[in-house]
Amino acid sequence: MEFSQALEIANHAVNEKLARTLTEVEIALLFGAWNNLTYQQIAARSGYSINYLQRDIGPKFWQFLSYTLGRKVNKTSLRGILSQFTLPISNLQPQNQRSVDWGEAINVSHFCGRIEEIEKLTHWILAERCRLIALVGMSGIGKSALAAKVSQLIQTEFEFVIWRSLRNAPPLETLLAELVPFLSQQQDIQAKPERLLYWLQKHRCLVIFDNQDTLLQPVQHAGNYQPDFRNYGELFRLLGEASHQSCILLTSREKSAEVALLEDWNGGVRSLSLKGSWEASMALIDAKGLVGSEAEKRHLCELYRCNPLILKMVATSIQSLFDGEIAVFLQTETPIFNGMRHLLDQQFQRLSPLEQTIMYWLAINREWTTIAQLQADIVPAVSRTNLLESLESLTWRSLIEKRSGEYTQQPMIMEYVTDCLVHQLATELLMVKTSFFNQDALLKTTVLEYLHEKFWH
Ligand SMILES: Nc1ncnc2c1ncn2[C@@H]1O[C@H](COP(=O)(O)OP(=O)(O)OP(=O)(O)O)[C@@H](O)[C@H]1O
Ligand SMILES: [Mg+2]
Repeated sequence: MEFSQALEIANHAVNEKLARTLTEVEIALLFGAWNNLTYQQIAARSGYSINYLQRDIGPKFWQFLSYTLGRKVNKTSLRGILSQFTLPISNLQPQNQRSVDWGEAINVSHFCGRIEEIEKLTHWILAERCRLIALVGMSGIGKSALAAKVSQLIQTEFEFVIWRSLRNAPPLETLLAELVPFLSQQQDIQAKPERLLYWLQKHRCLVIFDNQDTLLQPVQHAGNYQPDFRNYGELFRLLGEASHQSCILLTSREKSAEVALLEDWNGGVRSLSLKGSWEASMALIDAKGLVGSEAEKRHLCELYRCNPLILKMVATSIQSLFDGEIAVFLQTETPIFNGMRHLLDQQFQRLSPLEQTIMYWLAINREWTTIAQLQADIVPAVSRTNLLESLESLTWRSLIEKRSGEYTQQPMIMEYVTDCLVHQLATELLMVKTSFFNQDALLKTTVLEYLHEKFWH
């Protein structure tokens, strides 16, 4: 048996049990074991440290492979055991007569974790036959990755699979001019919503629209479309309401109005709010070769709410600035880095003035805050209705957390908003104006000590 076949068998087993494929470091270990290399040789070949391979990821990998193969495997026994397996050919070959266009779908060969979410989405799409599903969550949390993974896993259930990114905000006609001919196999070139619906009724199709949030209006209440893209809202509403045999999978940082309106736990329109992923975060930390105890790794993941993108950026910085030592980084207590700031800047700029004010006050208060408390904080006064609307909007944007009538921010976001606040405070003091900062209100808060510290250092 060739190594490529062994790899395929291992990948298949892992995919069956855990809905993912082997990571780079796991493949390096597999290759080493297959070719009877020492850990030292594997380290030299792959660039990972010998310590990491032999003491950390190695033992975990053998254990995990034993679980997926249903046989006890270690570095020495791997070749013998894998050679006894044969390829499940039927599972590996693509079905005939399927048309697939992955567009700009992201590569998910290193995808980890998210077993529950995969199961839930698969159930919604295949068993419950949902027509419209939105994956909603903050930037970098893994929406596109999950959409790509699920689509890849269930693609054989569909006659057509097409992925389109809306990041460049194409006019709806341009998008329809691609979708209708593709789904009709060039029989139909009418770029109209009703033609798209027709083909979605005729065939079982999986259509993924990534980055729906690009079409939504910044500043206003979350979920409304920009004037040029209102026709998208009508299209999604049509695809959510009308009966057809296909599934539209959306990813968005904000839940759009028609999804909020149509979603129903018994119906064909659903949304899944995505939180961070432990497995993905821990795997990313390991892949970056960061050094630390299990507790330190967990602490790092928790600090960034297991946001894979942010952890990737942070891990890179820890690697270059602190020699990969998590503990040294944690001691510095400066969790905001440049790349992350850019990511959060983008989200923050989309907020309405009232939403920004609420974000500031949640950062100032630092603890769970009630609506009444917020109302007392904000000057000039705002109506309760406006406040509730903006709080809902911020929840849709995944920027705040809610717990029975109280609100707060994730630590990382709080840190970012505090930095913005300090910056704004400095600017306003320089310009001798106090638009946002009513001094009395600010003095009333518990944050002064913290802000002073940030401001004067
Ligand atoms: N489960 C996972 N396993 C491994 N890597 C992941 C996982 N989820 C996300 N990532 C990685 O984290 C990064 C961010 O993920 P992704 O692009 O899916 O985020 P997103 O929620 O779509 O963000 P945005 O709103 O900016 O589009 C990517 O580099 C992706 O590969
Ligand atoms: Mg994305």
